Amino acid sequence: INLTIVDRDGGRMPVEIPEGINLSLMEVLKASGYDILATCGGMALCATCHVQVIEGPEQYFNASDAELDILDTLPYAEPASRLACQIRISEDMDGMVFKLMGGE
Ligand code: FES
Repeated sequence: INLTIVDRDGGRMPVEIPEGINLSLMEVLKASGYDILATCGGMALCATCHVQVIEGPEQYFNASDAELDILDTLPYAEPASRLACQIRISEDMDGMVFKLMGGE
């Protein structure tokens, strides 16, 4: 599974993920060395794992109600904003592009 991550400076970096892995996007980003605090440990409470979906299958553009509760409190959430801790890595994510947001 190959993803592209656009960092906060606009740089694009590939991230390769082995198939069959059972992790969230937040965990993959942390393991790949990205500066994501994930203060709440993946409980959809802190928004420090905020990402924006740039390219990918339709269903990934829509945040869940739990995510929207948090995202709606941010001054700069976008329609395709998601919490990376709430995105399970799956094979249909191959080729997706995510942008890191904030760092708040
Ligand atoms: Fe806290 Fe995702 S890690 S909301």
